[in-house]
Amino acid sequence: MRREVRLPSRFSARTLALLCGAVVLLTAGPALAQTRGSVWDGVFTAEQAARGKASFAANCAVCHGADLNGVNRPPLKGELFLNHWLEGSLDALFTHVKAMPPGRANLGDGPYVDLLAFLLEANAFPAGARELNAEAIPNIQVQGQHGPASVPNFALVDVVGCLTRGPRDTPHEKWTLTNGSEPARTRSPIQPSEPEMTAARAKPLGSQTFQLLDVEFFSGAFHPETHLGHKVNAKGFLIRAGADVRINVTWVEMLAPDCGR
Ligand code: HEC
Repeated sequence: MRREVRLPSRFSARTLALLCGAVVLLTAGPALAQTRGSVWDGVFTAEQAARGKASFAANCAVCHGADLNGVNRPPLKGELFLNHWLEGSLDALFTHVKAMPPGRANLGDGPYVDLLAFLLEANAFPAGARELNAEAIPNIQVQGQHGPASVPNFALVDVVGCLTRGPRDTPHEKWTLTNGSEPARTRSPIQPSEPEMTAARAKPLGSQTFQLLDVEFFSGAFHPETHLGHKVNAKGFLIRAGADVRINVTWVEMLAPDCGR
């Protein structure tokens, strides 16, 4: 009798745990797909891109070329162009498009969304059944064909890590960030805002090591020697040189006076 009671109850506890896991997986799947779309999901329509193409011919081709290869301005398709935007939100590209043509009147949100659709099509991203709209843009990630990848070399990035340095006048005296997070693309090289600081404080450390270039000189107000062993937020240009990964610093901000995980 006792056995009969105990066995089913152990079984049901395990079943419950498995079921909970399955429910979490099932509900997390569609939610993730919704909030983290990519440019490969067919995020614009062919008609929209055609409208964008007409607008491009009228407003942009004079500088960027009808074929988008650039006349004497940057090309808007191909590897060079994509390297500026890969591993970032499509919103960054949209913001740039909205600032065009330089020094001329705003074309309006609708026409800019169409132009963005045209740029996506020209860069071989697939059209789909639904029109792109301004609200959806921040949730669309620009990615290569093989999905998420490392941020391209020389991109402006944002990381958190622990500030360290070896003894002076030794080969290890360089300022280094240990336990660094995976570099994330940023568009802002300057001091993080309060919401950015809050997000950076909550961001977990990682396993990367970065050599920090110019950490003593980017600002007269930051004295790195007073932040040894602290969790910091660093922004700067990513330079991968073989096994060495460096960040040419544009800003460093202390996040916590220790570096616990
Ligand atoms: C008068 C010349 C001119 C016109 C017209 C013009 N642009 Fe530009 N565009 C530039 C210059 C110069 C740059 C490089 C500086 C910069 O990024 O702001 C640029 C950069 C860009 C970039 C960023 C390229 C990159 O990879 O960094 C995009 C996207 C862009 N333009 C889109 C457009 C669109 C869309 C239009 C039409 C609505 C347009 N431009 C019209 C001159 C022009």
